[in-house]
Amino acid sequence: MTPGAETLDLVLGGGLIVDGTGRPGRIGHVGIRGRDIISLSHGDSRHAQAAKQVIDVSGKVVAPGFIDVHTHDDRAVIATPDMAPKVTQGCTTVVVGNCGISLAPMTQEAFQPPFSILGRPDDFRFPEMAGYLDAVRVAKPAVNVAVLTGHMSLRLMAMADPFAPASAAELEQMGQGLSEALDAGALGFSTGLFYGPNAGASMEEVTHLVRIASQAGGIYATHIRDERAGVIDALTEAFDTSAAADAPVVISHHKCAGVENHGRSVETLALISRRSRSQRIGLDAYPYAAGSTVLDPRFVGEGYPVMLAWSRDYPHLAGREISDIASEWGRTEKDAAARLQPGGAIYFSTDERDVERILAYPKTMIGSDGLPHDEHPHPRLWGTFPRVLAHYCRARRVFDLETAICKMTDIPARTFGLGARGRIAPGYAADITVFDPDTVEDRATFLEPQKPARGIEHVLVAGVPALTDGKPTGQGGGELINRQQTKRRSRG
Ligand code: ZN
Ligand code: CU
Repeated sequence: MTPGAETLDLVLGGGLIVDGTGRPGRIGHVGIRGRDIISLSHGDSRHAQAAKQVIDVSGKVVAPGFIDVHTHDDRAVIATPDMAPKVTQGCTTVVVGNCGISLAPMTQEAFQPPFSILGRPDDFRFPEMAGYLDAVRVAKPAVNVAVLTGHMSLRLMAMADPFAPASAAELEQMGQGLSEALDAGALGFSTGLFYGPNAGASMEEVTHLVRIASQAGGIYATHIRDERAGVIDALTEAFDTSAAADAPVVISHHKCAGVENHGRSVETLALISRRSRSQRIGLDAYPYAAGSTVLDPRFVGEGYPVMLAWSRDYPHLAGREISDIASEWGRTEKDAAARLQPGGAIYFSTDERDVERILAYPKTMIGSDGLPHDEHPHPRLWGTFPRVLAHYCRARRVFDLETAICKMTDIPARTFGLGARGRIAPGYAADITVFDPDTVEDRATFLEPQKPARGIEHVLVAGVPALTDGKPTGQGGGELINRQQTKRRSRG
């Protein structure tokens, strides 16, 4: 055959195609032209259509690229567009702007401590979402980017005292900021009601803003007010808010933290199931029995280990346990934590049985919650997706491979409205991850958190190779996934 319009750019031949829908994998060939998957053929026979390049992937799994639904990569996609922590895990899409904390709309003057999870004060230079999205387009990151608008960003931009309830005028200004972001292409709205500068927000305030997102076809993602003793009330608030605003809601990084709350995922998942009968609910989780966020003395010295992830004034102590530092200093853990601020920490505050139960729950998606700005980050930044495959799927058999991949691809794409992504099927974007199902493994640990995973062999983002033979190419095929585009595509 002579090369012509029908010629494919690439065929991934002979691999086990696990298409993302949860259906059993089948051996076959995936044909790609430009940014799209063009053809799919099953069976062992050679691929019939002419192709410029054929990669033999027999013995390997061909899956849709993983979608990291919960990230704080807002600044990383601009500052480090090769996105090595994500590409090496087989991720092809990140959702940024979670936990109420988005890089835009925000300015340096409005900076408050929780924003340190994204960067330094002078990293905040986008008073409007449109400017940030332009910067993402210019940076051409290796992975696709979808954006949520953070409630805390809107609050800090609108309010004189963000710890207080909002006045009518301040709420109006927040609504305008959110509308601008949605018009520019944001997928929706996120809150982090747990964090100080959001905690003053009433349910009415949040409902008003969620309704604006919902009317534009957007989604609501929330880091709920309390993941500890008050977890049931906080979940109920999230469901009531989204029901009142008629919006789909995603519960972020679901967990039951604190020793006294271990085992309570039985209750929380039952509540999620019950409320799901009358409204659209999603949730995500990361595969570790430890959380990480800013260092907060309230959650230190509570009967579980806490590790320092970073400290502005004591950078050399990153990676050490707070209890060690405290005994060296002859102080209580809470006092030591107060002195180490501002900083970040890893809290070993959840129970492995809850982690498994939540991951196994059919609706649960995978989101890393990785913190790319931390000096000694939680290993979830580099290890989340291979860890689900290696530990929870292959070793622990919490679910089969098809289910694991569905949680990382198709469920996220449908929940967040990402259009024709998240499946291996003709007409879908060629976001593809090829991995060795026997050797794929996370290597990042709490002591060595920045070790890349192994076993991920090829990653394509919109048809562009982002990782070849296990090595990142540094190329950027990533697209900005905006809501308008999503709507147009999903109507077809
Ligand atoms: Zn969060
Ligand atoms: Cu988060």
